[in-house]
Formats: sequence, structure tokens, C-alpha cells
Amino acid sequence: MTTLTATALADIARQLTSGGRGILAADESIKTMSSRLEQEGIAASATARRDYRALLLTAADLSQCISGIILCDETFGQDLADGRPFPIAARELGILPGIKVDTGTSPLPGQGGALITEGLDGLGARLASYAQRGAAFAKWRAVFDVHTITPYSARANGQALARYAALCQQHGIVPIVEPEVLCTGDHDLAASAAATSLALGAVFEALVDAGVQLSGIVLKPNFVTPGLDASPVPAAEVAAATFAVLNEHVPAEVAGIAFLSGGHPTANVCAFLSALAADDRRPWPVTFSFGRALVSAALHTWAGSPAEVTAAQGVLLDNCAAAAQAAAE
Ligand code: 13P
Repeated sequence: MTTLTATALADIARQLTSGGRGILAADESIKTMSSRLEQEGIAASATARRDYRALLLTAADLSQCISGIILCDETFGQDLADGRPFPIAARELGILPGIKVDTGTSPLPGQGGALITEGLDGLGARLASYAQRGAAFAKWRAVFDVHTITPYSARANGQALARYAALCQQHGIVPIVEPEVLCTGDHDLAASAAATSLALGAVFEALVDAGVQLSGIVLKPNFVTPGLDASPVPAAEVAAATFAVLNEHVPAEVAGIAFLSGGHPTANVCAFLSALAADDRRPWPVTFSFGRALVSAALHTWAGSPAEVTAAQGVLLDNCAAAAQAAAE
């Protein structure tokens, strides 16, 4: 087993979230990635998924804006065209490699549609293997819907996140702790705030109970926003609501907070992040760990054509630069 000191874990967690850089989430499951490729008219295959992730990772000077890249198991085990394994190439490019280790969600019996995230069985052995192959950090995502979240589902997912986080740290891997409250629907800002508060309260209670070193984790939450089908509110209001919920539940020792984009347009999440970063009351660094907000337009530009790789990388780099600029406000 790899063992890293508490200081080393805290250094990695800070490296991921400080200095105006953020984390690129490129860890879509095989099913999700295949369907996104097919939506762009690209035949889904292991090679197409590899080529697309290689396009992202090898964009020129990506490390100026990106501190870490989250990969799924398939990509983690794949090689770039030059034969280098993805995690090795990422480190050589100045980007820490991370691995998504949850295995998806299933319904929690008796909880009216609330979900539990699976993947704890055998996790220690998988973490040992990922650490040995170069993983610096990991990700586990719990998923909540404002309409179905219950105190029990928040506690059950909080305990799973806490067991995952403690195991990661035992294996010298920094855990990204991701409790995502979905923004699909027409709910208002208050509903998002209430659900996010319930989720974060349960998660931090479980993390503390499990003895997780908070200075060696990265929290990956949603912004507190109205649902995507509701009337939008100004970015300043989103930032204020998000800060209020985080401030209530997230201890100051947490190394950093890296937000997911959740399906919001790139300009909107950059505006939310910029407004939050400008709030000097916050004790933790804030940055981004966006997926779709960074990559969707690049995937569309590429559309599977080798002739469009450079143009697609340009689109990716523009979005990463906008997000990094927002984080540095
Ligand atoms: P989005 O930014 O596309 O929501 O993805 C981030 C992520 O990693 C979700 O788990």
C-alpha cells in the first residue's frame, strides 16, 4: 500500500484547487461517453473514446489552466498514440491524473426514488492498483434530486462517501468528495439551497465520524441555482446562496472546493464562480472541476475528424482559460 503523510495529501489537494487552475472532468462512463459521441455522429468504440480523451489531454499547454484530469477506468488503462499510458502522460504534461472509482447509482429501497452510489466492494484493492499506476486523486459522486432527497438518503450517501474518502487517504490518494444536487427541473433557488444543505450536512458529519483528514480532500459540490427550467437569477444571487450553504457546512480545513457544472452553460458557471471567488469571506480556495462546460463545444467541433483536432483543442483551451480566469477573480 502507498502511504502518504497527511502533509503530502494536503499538498496534492491544494495543488489541485489553488493557483487559478482547476480540474478537467473527463471521466464519463463508457455508456455516457458513447452516447455523447453518437450524438455528434461519431461511431462509439474504445478507440474513438481514446482519441477524444487524447485530444483533450494533449491540448497545447493545458496545464496552464488545468491542475488535474479525472479519467474513467477505461481511459486510465489506455495509451496515447505515442504509447504512453494516460496517467503517465498526464504527469509528464504537468497535470495530476485522477480516477473515478464509484460504479454508478441504484435506487435506495423504500426511499421514493432516491439513489445510492455503489462501488465500495473491493475498493481498497482497486485503489492500491490505481495508486501503483500513478493516480494522485480519485472521485466518487453521490447524486441527489431536490424532489427525492431524504435525510436517510443523504446519510447513506454521506457514509459511502466517507468510507471511500478514508480508504483513498489510506492508499495515498486524495479523494474528491462529490455530493451533486441535480439542477434538472423547474425548482427555485430555495429548493436547491435546502437540498444542498441537507446533503452537505450529512456528508460532513460522516466525514468527521470516519476520521477523514479534511485538509486532504477536495469538495466537489453543485452551485446553488434554480432548476434549468426555472427563471434564472443573477450570478451574484447564485454566489450568495452557494456561499451561505457552504459556509454553514464546510469546515475551513477543507483544502479546496472545485465546482461541477451540472449542465449549466459555460458562461453561466464562469459567472457563478467568478462572483464566488470575489467573496473574500470564504476560508477555502474555490475553483472548477467542470465536465460539459469545458468539453461539449470541443467535442462538437471535433466530430471525429482528424482535421479538426487542433480547432477542437482551441475551443477546449478557450473554455479552460475562461474558467481559470473566473477562479482567479
Ligand atoms: P459536469 O461539469 O458536466 O456536471 O461534470 C462534472 C462531473 O464530474 C460530474 O460528476
